Amino acid sequence: MHLPMSKSTARLALGAMAIALAGLAGPQLLAHGDVTPQAVDTSALPDIGEQWLGENPYSGNAKAIEIGTSAYGQNCARCHGLQAISGGIAPDLRYLELGAAGDEWFIERYRNGSSHDGKVYMPPFGDVLGQKAGWAIRSYIESVHTDD
Ligand code: HEC
Repeated sequence: MHLPMSKSTARLALGAMAIALAGLAGPQLLAHGDVTPQAVDTSALPDIGEQWLGENPYSGNAKAIEIGTSAYGQNCARCHGLQAISGGIAPDLRYLELGAAGDEWFIERYRNGSSHDGKVYMPPFGDVLGQKAGWAIRSYIESVHTDD
């Protein structure tokens, strides 16, 4: 005899499925918020000094875009999505304004992250990855910019 599943049993089953799926998707999903920054080798890029700049000195630089692509994948994609296409956890960075205003906002967030109401929404990266890596990532993000 086949008994119809009660609503709450069905919900439990769905919950178990979601947990199983999260497990399959690997640690990057579960590690959200528990961030270990991955070092970025920026030795191939021109030095820009210690002082933080307000505008991207590497804009359009092919080497910077290459380094930024990998640095983004290792440090930002888990929240902002692969290829900067957001899955909804964090803003879609393809829409970040181009030019000086976008640069300024980008580097502010990169350096200081974002915390409010005692919660860390985005960890700061400035001290751990440094300025060159930041602008390399900005160059990558510019290269995938869209207005759509
Ligand atoms: C732990 C998740 C997480 C990681 C990792 C992360 N971010 Fe974020 N980021 C967020 C969230 C959430 C916001 C929105 C914060 C808010 O609105 O207060 C944000 C906002 C931003 C913004 C502002 C976007 C806008 O439209 O206002 C930029 C720029 C940004 N992040 C860049 C980066 C870069 C570059 C990296 C990698 C070096 C990175 N983030 C890593 C979660 C993350």
